[in-house]
Amino acid sequence: MPQVPGSTREDPAKSIIPRHIAIIMDGNGRWAKKRFLPRIAGHRQGVEAVRSTIKACMGRGVEYLTLFAFSSENWHRPEEEVTFLMQLFIRTLEHEVAKLNENGIRFKVIGDLSKFDSRTVAFIHQGEELTANNSRLIFTVAANYGGRWDIMQAVQKMISDSPNSLEDFKETDLVRHFAMNYAPDPDLFIRTGGECRISNFLLWQLAYSELYFTDTLWPDFDAHALDLAIKSYQQRERRFGRISEQLQNMPIKKGITKIAAKKKL
Ligand code: IPE
Ligand code: IPE
Ligand code: MG
Repeated sequence: MPQVPGSTREDPAKSIIPRHIAIIMDGNGRWAKKRFLPRIAGHRQGVEAVRSTIKACMGRGVEYLTLFAFSSENWHRPEEEVTFLMQLFIRTLEHEVAKLNENGIRFKVIGDLSKFDSRTVAFIHQGEELTANNSRLIFTVAANYGGRWDIMQAVQKMISDSPNSLEDFKETDLVRHFAMNYAPDPDLFIRTGGECRISNFLLWQLAYSELYFTDTLWPDFDAHALDLAIKSYQQRERRFGRISEQLQNMPIKKGITKIAAKKKL
């Protein structure tokens, strides 16, 4: 099929399991409130859901998992919650990076790291270097991330790196400067916690992602909840601007069996 110019990158090969899943992990505070616990208890429990989601993604052949952990707007929260979230992030990294590496997982962080202290930044870079050659799952944490920040920093780099005049720039010149330039655009976007919004997550990259919203609160999210999202994804028809009849000849990525056939959902 000839590639025609459009506002997206190359259309991905049709795949039954999404290659890249991006998740807004929302609802920790409400999970805690329902149990008369402080909000931080919800964040702590949220780490368990991260563990089970990573495991479930590996079991299902997902190649990229991207989790929104802290947005550029989350600094507006009460100071003690921000401090707790930062400490939880650092402590979890310290405990988990070696385990990620043992499991063949590549670890990446996207976001504006300039607000993190130098020890944390060094630790993130060490983790990224340690796991750089792993490929079983590319696991990205978005920390102090904002889609608008990402677009702005990419535009700035594109302009300062290139002698081109503005009218000569192409999408590819911009895309290579995005924080997640190593990954294809997400096939499936999931938001837990019932809100139906993007909250400044991957604004450019979600252009053609299938969107899935669930009321499940993030600490309750598990392999079963992931399977429901994947099942919904499998029922979608990704047309990328075409009509149904044009899709029959699109290649299907081989080697991946339909999840519904393997598991009772
Ligand atoms: C998501 O849960 C975690 C972060 C934003 C860090 P919330 O803390 O937003 O939980 P709710 O939305 O208040 O329930
Ligand atoms: C989005 O959740 C950010 C993360 C999950 C890290 P929020 O709970 O902060 O989003 P809003 O404020 O309700 O849009
Ligand atoms: Mg929230």
